[in-house]
Amino acid sequence: MTSNLSTVLATIDTKLLAEIARLGETIPYAADGSGYGRFPKKVSWWTNGFWPGLMWQRYAATGNARFRAVAEQVEQRLDENFVTFTSLHHDVGFMYGLSAVADYQQTGNPKSRVRGLHAATILAGRYNPNGQFIRSWDDPGTEGWVIIDSMMNLPLLYWASETTGDPRFAAIAAKHAETVAAHHIRADGTVRHICVFDPNTGVQTDVLKGQGYAANSAWARGQAWAIAGFAQAYTYFGRPEWLRVATKVTDQFLTHVTANGGIPKLDLRQPAEATMTDTSALVAAATGIIPLLPAVPATKREQYRTQLFGALKTLLATQVNLDPSQDGILWGFSTAYDKPAEQGISSVYGDYYLVMALMQLQATFGDDCLQ
Ligand code: GLY
Repeated sequence: MTSNLSTVLATIDTKLLAEIARLGETIPYAADGSGYGRFPKKVSWWTNGFWPGLMWQRYAATGNARFRAVAEQVEQRLDENFVTFTSLHHDVGFMYGLSAVADYQQTGNPKSRVRGLHAATILAGRYNPNGQFIRSWDDPGTEGWVIIDSMMNLPLLYWASETTGDPRFAAIAAKHAETVAAHHIRADGTVRHICVFDPNTGVQTDVLKGQGYAANSAWARGQAWAIAGFAQAYTYFGRPEWLRVATKVTDQFLTHVTANGGIPKLDLRQPAEATMTDTSALVAAATGIIPLLPAVPATKREQYRTQLFGALKTLLATQVNLDPSQDGILWGFSTAYDKPAEQGISSVYGDYYLVMALMQLQATFGDDCLQ
């Protein structure tokens, strides 16, 4: 039986404090059996907001100054990206939303607000009015590429509009979400990873395989990014079509997760013999599904609740390592179908979304809801 959520989160706090002591100044990305050392990343790496984000979540819950100090230290290191500038990409939303903006929201630090606004301005500056999308990456030839993950960067723009009173940031986000809803979301509720547009005319020219099995497959984390991204867009704008997108993708995702015993495969359409899983997809999706529950009809709400709670209990029982002497909390994560060395491991964002989902469940359904 799963412990109550306070007990699980307190054990996670103990483990995070042990990881902090081992990591020193290192910003963690992914852990394998040998710990956090084997996957070093540069300071502009897209996941570098998750560690401070995790710290801010637990600082908010516990007031432990150690969490805050680590978050502040990483936030300052990320300033280096603003000096070089060209190393930044659309994932400034993840990076600065979860670090600087989280800091500003909790402490009111004016420097953090400025960092958040620099990042939001960079993200808004990536908008292509010809195709009404935010460009994802910077490699030559990717001027018209948009990945589904981009939906998760939009909250930085929502915040920028709120904090400045200037609607342009949110307006760009809304146009981007309209484009993604029209092109990435298939009629059956599965999700394309990469859509390519002509950057001059805005016409869609291609669909590419990204981290999933194939261009016409359904990468589990892409499903999760769509669920959480459109749930956030619906929460911010209140547009019912985005609730419909989020529920359509959730239907597909939870049906798959339930059929697969509570653990998502890396790709919903990978060959039957392929064993790769992606637990980070389940927890990221959960952070979108939990706030959506009050907005969906009662029958569907009950179905989602049963499927999601069942899967999260399986995850806690089989994929979570709470031993403070070992790095990495949520296991069974994989980065991509074609990267065998990065499969069956643990990631900082799996841990971030696990903690976020558990805290949302605790606040919404009470401490004993997974028992
Ligand atoms: N945003 C990259 C990934 O989900 O792996």
